Amino acid sequence: MTPEQDILSGPASCGRPARALRGDVTIPGDKSVSHRSLMLGAVALGKTHITGLLEGDDVLATARAMQAFGAHIARNADGSWDVEGRGLGNFISPDQPVDFGNAGTGCRLTMGLITGSPCTVTLIGDTSLSKRPMQRVLNPLRQMGLGITPDAQDHLPLTLTGPERPTPLHYRLPVASAQVKSAILLAGLSAPGETCVIEPHPTRDHTERMLTLFGANIETTVENDGVHVRLRGEKQLRACQIDVPGDPSSAAFPAIAALLVPGSCVTIRNVMRNPHREGLFTVLERMGADIAWQNQRQAAGEMVADLSISATKLEGLEVEARIAPSMIDEYPALAMVAAAASGKSIFHGLGELRVKESDRLAAICDGLRANGIVAEIAEDSLIVYGHDIYGGGVPPGGGRVATHHDHRIAMSFLLLGLASKTAITVDDISMIATSFPNFIPLMQSLGVAFTKGDNA
Ligand code: S3P
Repeated sequence: MTPEQDILSGPASCGRPARALRGDVTIPGDKSVSHRSLMLGAVALGKTHITGLLEGDDVLATARAMQAFGAHIARNADGSWDVEGRGLGNFISPDQPVDFGNAGTGCRLTMGLITGSPCTVTLIGDTSLSKRPMQRVLNPLRQMGLGITPDAQDHLPLTLTGPERPTPLHYRLPVASAQVKSAILLAGLSAPGETCVIEPHPTRDHTERMLTLFGANIETTVENDGVHVRLRGEKQLRACQIDVPGDPSSAAFPAIAALLVPGSCVTIRNVMRNPHREGLFTVLERMGADIAWQNQRQAAGEMVADLSISATKLEGLEVEARIAPSMIDEYPALAMVAAAASGKSIFHGLGELRVKESDRLAAICDGLRANGIVAEIAEDSLIVYGHDIYGGGVPPGGGRVATHHDHRIAMSFLLLGLASKTAITVDDISMIATSFPNFIPLMQSLGVAFTKGDNA
């Protein structure tokens, strides 16, 4: 396929490229930071100016939601965005249901903001989002005063009513989830006194970093029983400038592509380096990948740098559960590398993968097996037997992968086609636009060839 032939939806295939992959790419803005920029902008006073916003479907759904709650949001001619906020506690009740599409982060964090405003709204989502568990977020928010109809239902659609004034909460997270932590903190912005979230297993801390930029009264300490995040509420946030750094979860894809094609070398610019998001790169280095970080700098309260990665012999390994929160979205990509490495890989602590955009644990295992790779699930662990592409082996490929409307499953299995004997087909690529709208042309610029339709 040529870059001019647009390939946006339906099935697509990817096979071995004509040459090693080479190039220098800039990946789109981080999804987590993009959602939070719009949300914090919507409850701050003044105009928040955002550059580098990820214009993926998930983030655009959050922008529409913030507009429905009364924030003024505009995209400027240069691609930057402005958000005129309403101040804390001032969301209006939208006159229509608010549709979050596929966006779990947008939806769950907004539940926190709704708890901070006396408004009523019905939240809806697509088929995938409507199956995802919501009580993990609603349980603490209910304690803060959120009204929920139907109260015991674990999934969308739900009608929510924010209290006049939320009650501050001290809450120990039962699951390692940045979304749950963030929803509580966002609700706590409007609560009198201290809201505290205790994380036994630390997760991404973008909310904490960005709340600091917006002037919130927040502090994090590491104590014996985990990380304590304390927020003192009822302090108005002030608008600020956000330059969204590139998404390490999207950088994972050109990075693994380079490892799947011997002789490749790829540079990825402006990648966010957050200790709670770097698990994949740490594990790839342990497998033998040649990774270099250069040109380190700051953006949106985060460190960013340029990443160079070169193809090298890779060995399978065992990855402990402890590291899972720092690479929870990267296991589909890592599993593809495990299929190409030598020996057996075992990844532990993957229970949370069952409640992502799809049951990712099952989707990974099924997709690998459909392509002739031996894989199994043992409780919350995934075991993959690699084909040692650097030792002359080749994964068979040739399968058709069910993506279950999951963007990361689609991107990962397309790229496994690069290392496989026969091209791999995925059943639908439309969901890739949720997080990585320019995935196809960006990968094409490195030398990856995609074919539209089922023909491998
Ligand atoms: C996110 C948190 C993670 C992650 C998701 C983005 C966030 O979800 O999987 O893609 O921006 O807070 P959990 O909090 O459910 O682990």
